[in-house]
Amino acid sequence: MLAVRSLGIALLAAALRVSAGPLAKRAAAYYDPADDGGSMLTNAGDGYGEPLNVIISGLSSPDVLTYDGSINYARAIGFSTECLGIHIGAPQSANLGDGNGSVNQTIELREDYGSASVGTCLESAIGGNHFRIFVQNGTAADSGALFLAVSYEEDASDGHDIEPNGYDIGRDDLVSDALGTTSYGGVTYSTTAENITGLLSAGSAGINHDISIDGIVTLLTVTVQ
Ligand SMILES: *[C@@H]1O[C@H](CO)[C@@H](O)[C@H](O)[C@H]1NC(C)=O
Ligand SMILES: *[C@@H]1O[C@H](CO)[C@@H](O)[C@H](O)[C@H]1NC(C)=O
Ligand SMILES: *[C@@H]1O[C@H](CO)[C@@H](O)[C@H](O)[C@H]1NC(C)=O
Ligand SMILES: *[C@@H]1O[C@H](CO)[C@@H](O)[C@H](O)[C@H]1NC(C)=O
Repeated sequence: MLAVRSLGIALLAAALRVSAGPLAKRAAAYYDPADDGGSMLTNAGDGYGEPLNVIISGLSSPDVLTYDGSINYARAIGFSTECLGIHIGAPQSANLGDGNGSVNQTIELREDYGSASVGTCLESAIGGNHFRIFVQNGTAADSGALFLAVSYEEDASDGHDIEPNGYDIGRDDLVSDALGTTSYGGVTYSTTAENITGLLSAGSAGINHDISIDGIVTLLTVTVQ
């Protein structure tokens, strides 16, 4: 009886620890991946990478930084999960300098042209904005921040390549859709933006498709109302 009760208390304590963990407010907006052997470029598998040109701050509301929460937020700003789960191109990986080494993207989201799944299928056919999410939550740099590789694609007949200037355009489009007040699924968000230089280099060195970037990373701080 006593043993059963203390097992119950131990389980309750473990459950509380688990739920307090990911939902506790973080202490840092982000850590520079380069400080610990990481990179602000993804690994696209061909020796090049896409720039991680938007960061959702670790100081955002904790709910936004979870898997489900990030999808709900993406919907609020006009994206949805990929067309019927069909991935175009292989998933990419990134090393965010958090001690986890190279980790695959958690999810890829595409611009939603109107209706939940049909909208994203339309995007797959005609091009548009999309992004991949990487989470900086290894123990060496546990900001909880979401690093986004955002790009604007040409339509499928052009082989779904990133359009010229497509990284900067993708970032600026996503940011302008995100700023201010948005809502989805009964959750209302308030988003502010700040530009950061010095994390990415301007130019096209190491960038997939040899597309030049301006080197700006936009840091979004998202607060659930
Ligand atoms: C880190 O992020 C990944 C991807 O969302 C998630 O699966 C994992 O549970 C997170 N780990 C912790 C300790 O929060
Ligand atoms: C990452 O994705 C690649 C390509 O799909 C896959 O082969 C690999 O097993 C994945 N790695 C992990 C750790 O899931
Ligand atoms: C990073 O490693 C930690 C500790 O092993 C793990 O909990 C977390 O889920 C990993 N993050 C990702 C994005 O895989
Ligand atoms: C960030 O830089 C982009 C590109 O120059 C610009 O359009 C945008 O207004 C800037 N945003 C902020 C918050 O300064």
